[in-house]
Amino acid sequence: MTRTLLGMAVGLALSAGPLTAQAQSDEDVKMGFIVKKPEQAWFINEQEAATALGEEKGFEVVRLSGEDGQEVLSAIDNLNSQGAQGFVICPPDVRLGPAIMNRAKQYGMKVVTVDDRFIGSDGEPMENVPHLGMSGYKIGEQVGNAIAEEMDNRGWDPDEVAALRITNYELPTAKERTDGATAALLESGFKKDNIFDAPQQNTDTSSAFSAASPVFSKRGDFEHWVIYALNEESVLGGVRASEQYGLDPDQVIGVGINGSGAAFAEFSREKPTGFHGTVAVSSTMHGRQSADNLYQWITDGEKPKANTETTGKLMTRDNWQDVREELGL
Ligand code: GLA
Repeated sequence: MTRTLLGMAVGLALSAGPLTAQAQSDEDVKMGFIVKKPEQAWFINEQEAATALGEEKGFEVVRLSGEDGQEVLSAIDNLNSQGAQGFVICPPDVRLGPAIMNRAKQYGMKVVTVDDRFIGSDGEPMENVPHLGMSGYKIGEQVGNAIAEEMDNRGWDPDEVAALRITNYELPTAKERTDGATAALLESGFKKDNIFDAPQQNTDTSSAFSAASPVFSKRGDFEHWVIYALNEESVLGGVRASEQYGLDPDQVIGVGINGSGAAFAEFSREKPTGFHGTVAVSSTMHGRQSADNLYQWITDGEKPKANTETTGKLMTRDNWQDVREELGL
């Protein structure tokens, strides 16, 4: 607060345009980094990467959790009382966009989203809030292609394979990813009627497990299963449910998305599981780049572009350490 008042006083005293801008860039920069799932490796890594960039460039990152609307609004209040000029956020619900932006505007804070993009009251993405996230559909296609290739390697007859599609249609990036995977699978000759949905309430392992279990029980007639979802945490929920149902690893091909600690732990197990691979995206880059975009905006007044889309690379038990290194994870 003191810092903000001081900044305002300096600004008023100088009052000339360019000098005011100078005063802003000399001020200490502090930003929040609010995430919907603070316990997940993907988000821990994003926050750490943003913090490391801040140490390099000389700004402070306050890492906060925002698991629901109430917690997000308190986090914003908290940031304001600490004198932060803005925040990066992956919201717990994209429909909170307008409420979050209202609160941020009251405090004159700049906002950029990462991973999950705000949706406005018209149901469309909020284009005026700069965003950085995965190119969901393309990454989904990579998932579908990786599954099709592995089915081929195992010599499975596509007509006799079932797909567990763990969905989250409330979240556009999730829908894009599972839609992309479905399209690639169908293109490879997968049977549409053999795709079964398991709608999850959330984007984590336990909600995926709960959604997946009844699907296996109902479709006990299939011996071979493929599993996909918006992220690897959810695919892991599906794989755990398949194990509980009694399927062996060689009857299951699960392919996730993220390439975070959750996948590394699975690949490090002594024996392979039904989790075949994951399309890895650099959470390090997501954290650094989104924080850097906000930093530039705060210091130079340069608003980041409306949407930045990132790409991924397939990681399996065989190459995960190499890909991890390549992506700086
Ligand atoms: C969503 C998912 C995360 C991760 C990010 C990446 O937020 O819930 O697991 O995949 O997207 O953009």
